[in-house]
Amino acid sequence: MASTGQHSGPLLEMENVSVNFPAKRPYPFSRKRWIQAVTDVTLQVAEGETFGVVGESGCGKSTLANAMIGMVRPTAGTVRFQGEEIYSLAPRAFKNIRRNMQMIFQDPFSSLNPRFSVYEIIREPLYIRGGASESAMKAKVLELLKLVGLDEDDLYRNPSDFSGGQRQRIGIARAIILNPRFLVCDEPVSALDVSVHAQILNLLMEIQGSLNLTYVFISHNLAVVHNICQNMVVMYLGMTMESGPSEAIFANPLHPYTQALLAAVLDIDVQRSRERVLLKGDTPSPIDPPEGCRFWQRCPSAMNGCVTVPAELVEVEPAHYVACHLVSGFSSEQMAIGLHRPVSGQSRG
Ligand SMILES: Nc1ncnc2c1ncn2[C@@H]1O[C@H](COP(=O)(O)OP(=O)(O)OP(=O)(O)O)[C@@H](O)[C@H]1O
Ligand SMILES: [Mg+2]
Repeated sequence: MASTGQHSGPLLEMENVSVNFPAKRPYPFSRKRWIQAVTDVTLQVAEGETFGVVGESGCGKSTLANAMIGMVRPTAGTVRFQGEEIYSLAPRAFKNIRRNMQMIFQDPFSSLNPRFSVYEIIREPLYIRGGASESAMKAKVLELLKLVGLDEDDLYRNPSDFSGGQRQRIGIARAIILNPRFLVCDEPVSALDVSVHAQILNLLMEIQGSLNLTYVFISHNLAVVHNICQNMVVMYLGMTMESGPSEAIFANPLHPYTQALLAAVLDIDVQRSRERVLLKGDTPSPIDPPEGCRFWQRCPSAMNGCVTVPAELVEVEPAHYVACHLVSGFSSEQMAIGLHRPVSGQSRG
Protein backbone atom coordinates (compact mmCIF):
# COMPACT_ATOMS: atom_id res chain seq x y z
CA MET A 1 0.00 0.00 0.00
CA ALA A 2 1.47 3.35 -0.97
CA SER A 3 2.20 6.32 1.31
CA THR A 4 1.70 4.70 4.68
CA GLY A 5 4.19 7.12 6.24
CA GLN A 6 5.66 4.17 8.21
CA HIS A 7 8.81 3.87 6.12
CA SER A 8 12.00 4.30 8.18
CA GLY A 9 14.73 4.70 5.49
CA PRO A 10 15.46 7.79 3.37
CA LEU A 11 12.35 9.55 2.07
CA LEU A 12 13.70 9.48 -1.49
CA GLU A 13 16.31 7.17 -2.97
CA MET A 14 17.68 7.11 -6.49
CA GLU A 15 19.78 4.15 -7.48
CA ASN A 16 21.91 4.23 -10.64
CA VAL A 17 19.40 6.45 -12.40
CA SER A 18 20.02 7.34 -16.05
CA VAL A 19 17.77 9.34 -18.34
CA ASN A 20 18.43 9.42 -22.07
CA PHE A 21 16.43 11.39 -24.62
CA PRO A 22 16.50 10.58 -28.32
CA ALA A 23 18.51 13.22 -30.18
CA LYS A 24 17.35 14.62 -33.51
CA ARG A 25 19.10 12.91 -36.42
CA PRO A 26 21.21 15.39 -38.40
CA TYR A 27 20.01 13.65 -41.60
CA PRO A 28 17.37 10.91 -42.13
CA PHE A 29 19.59 7.82 -42.31
CA SER A 30 22.19 8.78 -39.70
CA ARG A 31 22.49 6.46 -36.71
CA LYS A 32 20.22 7.01 -33.73
CA ARG A 33 21.90 9.08 -31.02
CA TRP A 34 20.98 9.75 -27.40
CA ILE A 35 21.18 12.82 -25.22
CA GLN A 36 22.56 11.40 -21.99
CA ALA A 37 20.91 13.95 -19.70
CA VAL A 38 21.46 11.97 -16.46
CA THR A 39 23.86 9.04 -16.09
CA ASP A 40 24.10 6.60 -13.21
CA VAL A 41 23.10 8.93 -10.37
CA THR A 42 22.68 7.44 -6.90
CA LEU A 43 21.51 9.58 -3.99
CA GLN A 44 19.40 9.54 -0.83
CA VAL A 45 17.33 12.36 0.62
CA ALA A 46 16.48 12.04 4.32
CA GLU A 47 13.15 13.12 5.76
CA GLY A 48 13.21 16.80 6.81
CA GLU A 49 16.49 17.76 5.16
CA THR A 50 17.30 20.18 2.35
CA PHE A 51 19.33 18.40 -0.30
CA GLY A 52 21.20 20.49 -2.87
CA VAL A 53 21.80 19.75 -6.55
CA VAL A 54 24.35 22.03 -8.23
CA GLY A 55 25.90 22.29 -11.65
CA GLU A 56 26.01 24.47 -14.73
CA SER A 57 23.17 24.92 -17.18
CA GLY A 58 22.38 21.75 -19.11
CA CYS A 59 24.06 19.36 -16.66
CA GLY A 60 20.78 17.51 -16.06
CA LYS A 61 19.46 19.08 -12.84
CA SER A 62 15.85 19.52 -14.00
CA THR A 63 15.82 16.12 -15.67
CA LEU A 64 17.01 14.56 -12.40
CA ALA A 65 14.30 16.49 -10.54
CA ASN A 66 11.62 15.32 -12.95
CA ALA A 67 12.79 11.72 -12.53
CA MET A 68 12.53 12.16 -8.73
CA ILE A 69 8.93 13.24 -8.76
CA GLY A 70 7.54 10.79 -11.30
CA MET A 71 7.53 13.14 -14.29
CA VAL A 72 10.25 11.47 -16.40
CA ARG A 73 10.65 7.71 -16.40
CA PRO A 74 14.36 6.83 -16.10
CA THR A 75 15.95 4.84 -18.92
CA ALA A 76 17.68 2.78 -16.20
CA GLY A 77 17.79 2.61 -12.40
CA THR A 78 15.19 2.94 -9.66
CA VAL A 79 13.51 5.78 -7.78
CA ARG A 80 12.02 4.95 -4.39
CA PHE A 81 9.81 7.31 -2.40
CA GLN A 82 8.90 6.15 1.11
CA GLY A 83 10.44 2.83 0.11
CA GLU A 84 8.11 2.38 -2.90
CA GLU A 85 9.55 2.01 -6.36
CA ILE A 86 7.47 4.76 -7.91
CA TYR A 87 7.79 3.74 -11.56
CA SER A 88 6.63 0.18 -10.78
CA LEU A 89 3.41 1.26 -9.04
CA ALA A 90 -0.04 0.72 -10.51
CA PRO A 91 -1.58 3.99 -11.82
CA ARG A 92 -3.77 4.60 -8.76
CA ALA A 93 -0.99 4.03 -6.22
CA PHE A 94 1.33 6.14 -8.38
CA LYS A 95 -1.18 8.99 -8.38
CA ASN A 96 -1.51 8.80 -4.59
CA ILE A 97 2.22 8.85 -3.96
CA ARG A 98 2.76 11.53 -6.60
CA ARG A 99 0.59 13.97 -4.59
CA ASN A 100 3.26 13.95 -1.89
CA MET A 101 5.84 15.31 -4.32
CA GLN A 102 5.58 18.78 -5.78
CA MET A 103 7.78 21.18 -7.68
CA ILE A 104 8.45 24.92 -7.52
CA PHE A 105 9.58 26.12 -10.92
CA GLN A 106 12.36 28.44 -11.95
CA ASP A 107 10.29 30.89 -13.94
CA PRO A 108 7.16 32.21 -12.21
CA PHE A 109 6.41 34.23 -15.36
CA SER A 110 5.72 31.23 -17.57
CA SER A 111 4.67 28.66 -14.95
CA LEU A 112 1.43 30.46 -13.94
CA ASN A 113 -1.51 30.46 -16.37
CA PRO A 114 -2.07 34.16 -17.24
CA ARG A 115 -5.81 33.60 -17.83
CA PHE A 116 -6.46 32.25 -14.34
CA SER A 117 -6.96 34.31 -11.20
CA VAL A 118 -4.70 33.75 -8.19
CA TYR A 119 -7.54 31.81 -6.59
CA GLU A 120 -7.92 29.48 -9.58
CA ILE A 121 -4.16 28.94 -9.85
CA ILE A 122 -3.65 28.03 -6.20
CA ARG A 123 -6.89 26.02 -6.00
CA GLU A 124 -6.28 23.96 -9.16
CA PRO A 125 -4.51 20.89 -7.65
CA LEU A 126 -7.26 20.61 -5.01
CA TYR A 127 -9.94 21.10 -7.67
CA ILE A 128 -8.46 18.35 -9.86
CA ARG A 129 -8.21 15.97 -6.91
CA GLY A 130 -11.85 16.63 -6.13
CA GLY A 131 -13.80 15.95 -2.94
CA ALA A 132 -13.63 19.46 -1.42
CA SER A 133 -16.48 21.98 -1.42
CA GLU A 134 -16.00 25.44 -2.93
CA SER A 135 -16.07 27.05 0.52
CA ALA A 136 -13.50 24.58 1.89
CA MET A 137 -11.24 25.25 -1.11
CA LYS A 138 -11.58 29.00 -0.66
CA ALA A 139 -10.75 28.77 3.03
CA LYS A 140 -7.67 26.69 2.25
CA VAL A 141 -6.51 29.10 -0.48
CA LEU A 142 -6.95 32.06 1.88
CA GLU A 143 -4.96 30.28 4.58
CA LEU A 144 -2.13 29.63 2.11
CA LEU A 145 -2.20 33.18 0.74
CA LYS A 146 -1.57 34.41 4.25
CA LEU A 147 1.15 31.83 4.82
CA VAL A 148 3.09 32.96 1.72
CA GLY A 149 2.73 36.65 2.57
CA LEU A 150 -0.01 37.70 0.13
CA ASP A 151 -3.25 39.47 0.84
CA GLU A 152 -6.92 38.44 0.68
CA ASP A 153 -7.44 41.30 -1.79
CA ASP A 154 -5.08 39.50 -4.20
CA LEU A 155 -7.44 36.55 -4.59
CA TYR A 156 -9.12 37.50 -7.85
CA ARG A 157 -6.25 39.31 -9.52
CA ASN A 158 -4.30 37.85 -12.44
CA PRO A 159 -0.60 36.85 -12.36
CA SER A 160 0.26 39.79 -14.63
CA ASP A 161 -0.59 42.15 -11.76
CA PHE A 162 2.26 40.77 -9.66
CA SER A 163 6.03 41.11 -9.45
CA GLY A 164 8.31 38.10 -9.93
CA GLY A 165 8.72 37.59 -6.18
CA GLN A 166 4.95 37.72 -5.62
CA ARG A 167 4.38 35.29 -8.47
CA GLN A 168 6.83 32.89 -6.92
CA ARG A 169 4.82 33.17 -3.67
CA ILE A 170 1.73 32.14 -5.66
CA GLY A 171 3.68 29.19 -7.12
CA ILE A 172 4.74 28.14 -3.63
CA ALA A 173 1.14 28.29 -2.31
CA ARG A 174 0.00 26.14 -5.23
CA ALA A 175 2.78 23.61 -4.65
CA ILE A 176 1.83 23.05 -1.00
CA ILE A 177 -1.96 22.97 -1.26
CA LEU A 178 -2.10 19.15 -1.33
CA ASN A 179 0.06 18.94 1.83
CA PRO A 180 3.07 17.33 0.12
CA ARG A 181 5.97 15.86 2.10
CA PHE A 182 8.56 16.46 -0.57
CA LEU A 183 9.19 19.62 -2.56
CA VAL A 184 11.65 20.10 -5.39
CA CYS A 185 12.65 23.75 -5.76
CA ASP A 186 14.12 24.03 -9.25
CA GLU A 187 16.18 27.25 -9.20
CA PRO A 188 13.33 29.02 -7.38
CA VAL A 189 15.04 32.42 -7.26
CA SER A 190 17.30 32.55 -10.30
CA ALA A 191 14.70 34.28 -12.51
CA LEU A 192 13.96 36.88 -9.81
CA ASP A 193 15.47 40.23 -8.98
CA VAL A 194 18.39 39.81 -6.57
CA SER A 195 16.63 42.06 -4.04
CA VAL A 196 13.92 39.43 -3.43
CA HIS A 197 16.14 36.31 -3.33
CA ALA A 198 16.52 36.39 0.45
CA GLN A 199 12.77 36.92 1.02
CA ILE A 200 11.80 33.93 -1.10
CA LEU A 201 14.51 31.73 0.41
CA ASN A 202 13.42 32.74 3.91
CA LEU A 203 9.81 31.98 3.05
CA LEU A 204 10.80 28.52 1.79
CA MET A 205 12.73 27.87 5.00
CA GLU A 206 9.82 29.04 7.20
CA ILE A 207 7.38 26.83 5.32
CA GLN A 208 9.73 23.88 5.60
CA GLY A 209 9.82 24.31 9.36
CA SER A 210 6.10 24.77 9.85
CA LEU A 211 4.95 22.02 7.44
CA ASN A 212 7.79 19.56 8.11
CA LEU A 213 8.79 19.36 4.45
CA THR A 214 11.76 17.72 2.78
CA TYR A 215 13.39 19.81 0.05
CA VAL A 216 15.54 19.16 -2.96
CA PHE A 217 17.02 22.52 -3.83
CA ILE A 218 18.43 22.96 -7.32
CA SER A 219 20.81 25.80 -8.05
CA HIS A 220 23.87 26.75 -10.01
CA ASN A 221 24.98 28.83 -7.01
CA LEU A 222 27.08 26.85 -4.57
CA ALA A 223 27.03 29.60 -1.95
CA VAL A 224 23.23 29.40 -1.59
CA VAL A 225 23.32 25.63 -1.47
CA HIS A 226 25.95 25.76 1.24
CA ASN A 227 23.76 28.08 3.32
CA ILE A 228 20.61 26.03 3.22
CA CYS A 229 21.46 22.40 2.35
CA GLN A 230 22.72 19.70 4.69
CA ASN A 231 23.79 17.40 1.86
CA MET A 232 24.45 17.99 -1.81
CA VAL A 233 25.51 16.57 -5.13
CA VAL A 234 27.65 18.35 -7.74
CA MET A 235 26.73 17.33 -11.28
CA TYR A 236 28.58 17.74 -14.55
CA LEU A 237 27.26 16.53 -17.92
CA GLY A 238 24.67 14.33 -16.21
CA MET A 239 27.02 12.65 -13.75
CA THR A 240 27.89 13.03 -10.08
CA MET A 241 31.33 14.57 -9.67
CA GLU A 242 31.18 14.98 -5.89
CA SER A 243 28.56 14.39 -3.22
CA GLY A 244 28.21 14.47 0.54
CA PRO A 245 27.56 16.77 3.49
CA SER A 246 27.70 20.40 2.31
CA GLU A 247 30.04 21.29 5.19
CA ALA A 248 32.54 18.63 4.13
CA ILE A 249 32.40 19.67 0.46
CA PHE A 250 32.85 23.32 1.31
CA ALA A 251 35.66 22.66 3.76
CA ASN A 252 37.41 20.20 1.48
CA PRO A 253 36.29 20.42 -2.16
CA LEU A 254 38.23 17.72 -3.98
CA HIS A 255 36.93 17.62 -7.53
CA PRO A 256 38.47 20.28 -9.80
CA TYR A 257 34.95 21.06 -11.02
CA THR A 258 33.66 21.71 -7.48
CA GLN A 259 36.73 23.83 -6.81
CA ALA A 260 36.02 25.86 -9.93
CA LEU A 261 32.36 26.39 -8.99
CA LEU A 262 33.40 27.45 -5.50
CA ALA A 263 36.08 29.80 -6.76
CA ALA A 264 33.51 31.40 -9.07
CA VAL A 265 31.00 32.20 -6.30
CA LEU A 266 33.33 33.01 -3.46
CA ASP A 267 35.98 34.73 -5.52
CA ILE A 268 38.69 33.22 -3.38
CA ASP A 269 41.31 30.58 -3.86
CA VAL A 270 39.50 27.61 -2.37
CA GLN A 271 42.55 25.40 -2.28
CA ARG A 272 45.42 27.57 -1.36
CA SER A 273 47.98 24.82 -1.82
CA ARG A 274 46.96 24.38 -5.47
CA GLU A 275 46.68 26.77 -8.32
CA ARG A 276 43.26 28.38 -8.55
CA VAL A 277 40.93 26.48 -10.86
CA LEU A 278 39.21 28.55 -13.48
CA LEU A 279 36.58 27.06 -15.74
CA LYS A 280 37.26 27.66 -19.40
CA GLY A 281 35.07 26.84 -22.37
CA ASP A 282 31.50 25.57 -22.44
CA THR A 283 30.00 22.31 -21.28
CA PRO A 284 30.37 19.75 -24.10
CA SER A 285 27.27 18.20 -25.67
CA PRO A 286 25.52 15.46 -23.70
CA ILE A 287 25.15 13.59 -27.02
CA ASP A 288 27.94 11.01 -27.07
CA PRO A 289 29.74 12.48 -24.02
CA PRO A 290 33.44 11.65 -23.35
CA GLU A 291 33.99 7.98 -22.49
CA GLY A 292 36.43 8.68 -19.64
CA CYS A 293 35.84 11.42 -17.06
CA ARG A 294 33.16 13.70 -18.47
CA PHE A 295 35.02 16.76 -17.17
CA TRP A 296 38.44 16.02 -18.66
CA GLN A 297 38.22 18.47 -21.58
CA ARG A 298 37.83 21.40 -19.19
CA CYS A 299 39.96 20.05 -16.37
CA PRO A 300 43.23 21.90 -15.73
CA SER A 301 44.72 18.73 -14.22
CA ALA A 302 43.58 16.17 -16.81
CA MET A 303 45.81 13.12 -17.25
CA ASN A 304 45.93 10.65 -20.12
CA GLY A 305 43.83 8.15 -18.16
CA CYS A 306 41.06 10.72 -17.63
CA VAL A 307 40.36 10.65 -21.37
CA THR A 308 39.51 6.95 -21.54
CA VAL A 309 38.99 5.58 -18.02
CA PRO A 310 35.70 6.57 -16.31
CA ALA A 311 36.30 7.98 -12.80
CA GLU A 312 34.45 5.93 -10.17
CA LEU A 313 32.97 7.60 -7.09
CA VAL A 314 35.14 6.86 -4.04
CA GLU A 315 34.39 7.69 -0.40
CA VAL A 316 37.16 10.02 0.82
CA GLU A 317 35.74 10.69 4.27
CA PRO A 318 32.43 9.59 5.84
CA ALA A 319 29.66 10.11 3.23
CA HIS A 320 31.89 12.41 1.10
CA TYR A 321 32.31 10.90 -2.39
CA VAL A 322 34.42 12.12 -5.31
CA ALA A 323 34.78 10.82 -8.86
CA CYS A 324 38.25 11.99 -9.89
CA HIS A 325 41.43 10.17 -10.88
CA LEU A 326 43.46 12.83 -9.06
CA VAL A 327 41.89 11.56 -5.85
CA SER A 328 41.60 7.83 -6.55
CA GLY A 329 44.89 7.51 -8.49
CA PHE A 330 45.86 4.93 -11.09
CA SER A 331 47.10 1.37 -10.60
CA SER A 332 50.79 0.60 -11.18
CA GLU A 333 49.85 -1.15 -14.48
CA GLN A 334 47.99 1.99 -15.61
CA MET A 335 50.93 4.18 -14.58
CA ALA A 336 53.30 1.93 -16.52
CA ILE A 337 51.50 2.89 -19.73
CA GLY A 338 51.54 6.58 -18.81
CA LEU A 339 47.89 7.12 -17.82
CA HIS A 340 49.01 9.38 -14.95
CA ARG A 341 50.88 11.79 -17.24
CA PRO A 342 49.27 15.13 -18.10
CA VAL A 343 47.26 15.21 -21.30
CA SER A 344 49.51 16.87 -23.86
CA GLY A 345 48.33 20.32 -24.89
CA GLN A 346 45.91 20.62 -21.94
CA SER A 347 46.11 24.11 -20.45
CA ARG A 348 47.03 24.40 -16.77
CA GLY A 349 45.28 26.70 -14.30
N1 LIG B 1 12.51 16.51 -23.04
C1 LIG B 1 13.75 16.57 -23.50
N2 LIG B 1 14.05 16.13 -24.75
C2 LIG B 1 15.30 16.18 -25.24
N3 LIG B 1 16.35 16.68 -24.56
C3 LIG B 1 16.13 17.14 -23.32
C4 LIG B 1 14.82 17.13 -22.73
N4 LIG B 1 14.91 17.68 -21.49
C5 LIG B 1 16.21 18.00 -21.31
N5 LIG B 1 16.93 17.70 -22.41
C6 LIG B 1 18.39 17.88 -22.58
O1 LIG B 1 19.02 17.23 -21.48
C7 LIG B 1 20.13 17.99 -21.01
C8 LIG B 1 19.90 18.33 -19.55
O2 LIG B 1 18.84 19.28 -19.46
P1 LIG B 1 18.27 19.83 -18.08
O3 LIG B 1 17.15 20.75 -18.41
O4 LIG B 1 17.98 18.69 -17.19
O5 LIG B 1 19.52 20.65 -17.53
P2 LIG B 1 19.57 21.70 -16.32
O6 LIG B 1 20.79 21.36 -15.53
O7 LIG B 1 18.28 21.75 -15.61
O8 LIG B 1 19.83 23.08 -17.09
P3 LIG B 1 19.37 24.58 -16.65
O9 LIG B 1 20.32 24.98 -15.54
O10 LIG B 1 19.61 25.37 -17.90
O11 LIG B 1 17.94 24.53 -16.23
C9 LIG B 1 20.23 19.21 -21.90
O12 LIG B 1 21.16 18.94 -22.92
C10 LIG B 1 18.82 19.35 -22.49
O13 LIG B 1 18.86 19.94 -23.76
MG1 LIG C 1 16.87 23.25 -15.26
